[in-house]
Amino acid sequence: MRLLNLRYHKRFQMEVDLRRWRRTPVGVYPDYRLALWSPDLLHEHAEVKYLSFRDELDAVVFPCLGEMQSCLRLMEEIADRDGFVPEATWLAQYVGAGPNRVESCGTIQAIRTTRQRANIQNIGVTPHHRGRGVGAALINVALAGLQQVGVTRVGLEVTAENDSAVRLYQRIGFHSVKTVYKAIEELPTLRRAAVR
Ligand SMILES: CC(C)(COP(=O)(O)OP(=O)(O)OC[C@H]1O[C@@H](n2cnc3c(N)ncnc32)[C@H](O)[C@@H]1OP(=O)(O)O)[C@@H](O)C(=O)NCCC(=O)NCCS
Repeated sequence: MRLLNLRYHKRFQMEVDLRRWRRTPVGVYPDYRLALWSPDLLHEHAEVKYLSFRDELDAVVFPCLGEMQSCLRLMEEIADRDGFVPEATWLAQYVGAGPNRVESCGTIQAIRTTRQRANIQNIGVTPHHRGRGVGAALINVALAGLQQVGVTRVGLEVTAENDSAVRLYQRIGFHSVKTVYKAIEELPTLRRAAVR
């Protein structure tokens, strides 16, 4: 019998009430634009997801986020789900290097779980483009899109140690409604990654 070496990751379930939510002005740098979902952007979303998560704690909690092929499959699954909300799925692109050198650098997607509720799936901004308001801009457009289709309550789950993400969600209006623990079997290599 093999003993499992489990590590528990504390996660916050957070929510925002869209009936009271107003879009917050975001000081995003001018060299970025946001592109609404279209199926031909699927690969870009997957690649940005991979580049955003591969070196992060969330790739330990959800190993599929640390592999390009898994991110592609995940993105295909998300886009295929009944509750997929195209209006809340956006790609951020850096256009500061000229029209021929557009670089995709941020992604957000949402799934509707009931008529009035939806969850943000993953939001990711590639490391080089963080701290410029891209994450806040993505959440704002996603929430506005969910409001537009009649969703009133939006949830998400975030690893508690992910301070910058927790701060970002709180700034936009999310508050924590529940704390949960996700058990992950620690392999020696994962243990090293987790304590980095
Ligand atoms: C969490 C994440 C999406 C945030 O994206 P981001 O583009 O860096 O977010 P923002 O730029 O809007 O905000 C980040 C910080 O930059 C600051 N900032 C935003 N615009 C700024 C500007 N114009 N000038 C200076 N600082 C700015 C914000 O105040 C914020 O500061 P804080 O961390 O001290 O609270 C990104 O760090 C990420 O992809 N992380 C890895 C994946 C992940 O963990 N995703 C969340 C899973 S739940």
